[in-house]
Amino acid sequence: MSTPPSELTSAAVALFTATYAAPPEGVWSAPGRVNLIGEHVDYNGGLCLPMAIPQRTHAAVRRRDDRMVHVISGESGVERVALDDIGPGSPSGWAAYVAGVFWALEQAGHVIAGADIALTSDVPSGAGLSSSAALEASVALAIDELCGLGLGGDDAGRRELATACQRAENEVVGAPTGGMDQAASLRGRAGHALELDCRTMDVAYVPFEQELLIIDTRAHHALVDGQYAARREQCESAARDLGVPLLADVSLDGLSHTLEAVTDPVARRRARHVVTEIGRVKESAQVLRQGDRVDLDALGALFTASHVSLRDDFEVSCAELDVAVEAAIAAGAFGARMTGGGFGGSAIALVRPGRSGAVVAGVRRAYQQQGWKRPRTFRVKAGAGAGRDDTSE
Ligand code: GLA
Repeated sequence: MSTPPSELTSAAVALFTATYAAPPEGVWSAPGRVNLIGEHVDYNGGLCLPMAIPQRTHAAVRRRDDRMVHVISGESGVERVALDDIGPGSPSGWAAYVAGVFWALEQAGHVIAGADIALTSDVPSGAGLSSSAALEASVALAIDELCGLGLGGDDAGRRELATACQRAENEVVGAPTGGMDQAASLRGRAGHALELDCRTMDVAYVPFEQELLIIDTRAHHALVDGQYAARREQCESAARDLGVPLLADVSLDGLSHTLEAVTDPVARRRARHVVTEIGRVKESAQVLRQGDRVDLDALGALFTASHVSLRDDFEVSCAELDVAVEAAIAAGAFGARMTGGGFGGSAIALVRPGRSGAVVAGVRRAYQQQGWKRPRTFRVKAGAGAGRDDTSE
């Protein structure tokens, strides 16, 4: 007996049918992600450790044969984009994440068609949980199947879909992000984090059965603004001074001596974050590979050290993230850190089983003392990657 479709799957079908007066050919969905550790290392060719979360974006889709893309999400009317009008900066707004995927697949030489699309999602947007990657990946998987590209069925194909999603975001949306989020969404696996080597995009799956607490600060988070791009440039400038193609090429041994070659003190601190962070990812993956004997104290300490480095050396934290991290630790978390790009968004806390309530209460209290609005919290376990939803009743 099949389980009934999820509420958001049914809602996507209902929205599709109400909008386009016919049923969709199918529904595909893809998760948001949290990064356990390894922040701002993807575009430096380093290692990161993201996992898919249970929150997903669902795309109900039907192929069109007139090279048009029609897309509706809950809050908006139908956006209409011609495949031939898509390119860098066009369209603008949220439809660019959808249109960009069609463009990138076509650029990669695939023969694709237009589509009608209706979207539903419980991935909060602007929360640093990669709602954009979830959107791109759900659409990519739908196009793949409806146009018979044959990529979604194995890991090599999914890598290619992830590359197309990243190109959509880099070139059509104009956000110079790395490839971590799309890899996590398309290649995630329930009960596992992905140890992702961003130089090769090779993945090693690391068991991660723990529950994680996400604290969405609800503070502003936008990657299209200049700060993210500025961090990238500072990393590239440090790599040039060091005579390496990528900061991932720099060894942790003798780092402070090595970094003397970076002339700009700001770029030097950025580089120190990246190189030490890659070291922390390696240590974290080792801790997790201990299976039943995972040392949560050790992992928590690595999380917290990552936060401090992002706060002080990389300077991408903010007061709301710092208070969430400090309050979570004070309330008994093993460790906590900002996750994702920063400048707002979410923090994650590694919490002793049964202690989530106390940690949530501690963070809420700290926010109240600051006069900030109440943060949203989610308890999550590593969820599955993108896939086709069951729509049979
Ligand atoms: C954002 C980007 C990712 C990555 C993180 C920071 O989520 O989309 O590519 O750079 O920031 O680790």
